[in-house]
Amino acid sequence: MLVKKLKEKISEYDGKPVTLQGWVRTNRNSKNISFIEFNDGSCFSNLQIVYSPEMEGYEQASKITTGSAIEVKGTVHATPEAKQPLEVAADSITVLGMADHDYPLQKKRHSYEFMREIPHVRPRANTYYAVFRLRSVLSMAIHTFFQDRGFVYVQTPIITGNDAEGAGECFTVTTIDDQEYEKDFFGKHAQLTVSGQLHVEPFALTYRNVYTFGPTFRAENSNTTRHAAEFWMIEPELAFADLSDNMDVIEDMIKYCIRYVLEHAPEEMAFFQKMIDKDCIDRVKKVADSEFRRMTYTEAIKELEKVKDRFDNKNIYWGMDLQSEHERYICEQVVGGPVFLIDYPKEIKAFYMRENEDGKTVAACDLLVPYVGELVGGSQREERYDVLKKKMDDMGMEESTLQWYMDLRRFGGCVHSGFGLGFDRMLMYLSGIQNIRDVQPYPRTPRNLIF
Ligand code: 4AD
Ligand code: MG
Repeated sequence: MLVKKLKEKISEYDGKPVTLQGWVRTNRNSKNISFIEFNDGSCFSNLQIVYSPEMEGYEQASKITTGSAIEVKGTVHATPEAKQPLEVAADSITVLGMADHDYPLQKKRHSYEFMREIPHVRPRANTYYAVFRLRSVLSMAIHTFFQDRGFVYVQTPIITGNDAEGAGECFTVTTIDDQEYEKDFFGKHAQLTVSGQLHVEPFALTYRNVYTFGPTFRAENSNTTRHAAEFWMIEPELAFADLSDNMDVIEDMIKYCIRYVLEHAPEEMAFFQKMIDKDCIDRVKKVADSEFRRMTYTEAIKELEKVKDRFDNKNIYWGMDLQSEHERYICEQVVGGPVFLIDYPKEIKAFYMRENEDGKTVAACDLLVPYVGELVGGSQREERYDVLKKKMDDMGMEESTLQWYMDLRRFGGCVHSGFGLGFDRMLMYLSGIQNIRDVQPYPRTPRNLIF
């Protein structure tokens, strides 16, 4: 029997015998009665197990340590007057796996830093227990959103020969010690992908609406709370869609995900509201009901110039790459909610973005949100062969590895757009957790790879 099932149908199970397996969160003994806070992984809240000195095996049971795996046989009792709606009175408690006394999760609150050292046990601590289920629920939200709208899920490769973003932040995949890649496994330089976008575009020109959802890797040596070397990204791509259509989908997707997790992970969201971010549920609900603002990069620069002295980087000028303090100022202070910044200078954006009529900007859209900064990066793609080729020439790009990508513009190309949603950042945004290391099961960041 699972605790989740019991809780869903308390009156049906009231007075009935049950057998449960799970783990001990705490075991408290007093003279006449003892309590085990018990969790079997099926739902967020614990179940209270009650046992008395009269129970057979009481001596052993009273010594069961925090973290131990146990089997409980007993009787369900509805307790409508109490803090918890039900408890189980144990007839027997069998130890399936005792936790040694150095089990690291003891009653006191541990720091995030300490927990990052023990990724093999931290899922059992409340914060992580809530986060990692939210990860699962949010994955389903994403798939449901796109599948319901007829998007085809494409698994793009993890090993690739292209640096899609052209930012030179790739990890090399090799089986040799030197850099003679002609003699290497693939006979050429191979890398872990930074984005599935280029590989998914051919599928958008086939199925019209597609998406990827997988791991991506970036060797950027930036030790921030929002960057990881390995993270998950959702990359939808839409044929016959311009930048505005693209933003409509982004906005719908974010709102859908918010409503979905509020409905499917209510206990977890309530926990975040209580323990992590006092405003969490209201904050995301407000976003689900609001209209996202759209602002050009040029307007944003004007706003930043007005208050440049408040930033660490005060050198505000048209053409600069916005830093997180600037992005956060725009969405937190100027807009007070999510905002799309559009039409960025072409010099600071990737080669594949479509050039606007002004010849200076590209049809890009970054969605900035409070607390997190950039949550989504997207654009309308350059569908004009000659313009794309000239751009790549001007940037001195190695075109031989991307001829196939350019050819798409000659083989029935069309106006198309897409975007990348940072999955881990979306989790930060929903939970209020401030560091990407605390929403990933096994975070990989510079100088940090714990098993
Ligand atoms: O803005 P980015 O680099 O865009 C792309 O990769 C495009 N190919 C997407 C597309 O148009 N198909 O990354 C997209 C999102 C960012 O907005 C951010 O949320 C997340 O991915 N992201 C990271 N998340 C965690 N750690 C990092 N190092 C990240 N880099 C980007
Ligand atoms: Mg970006």
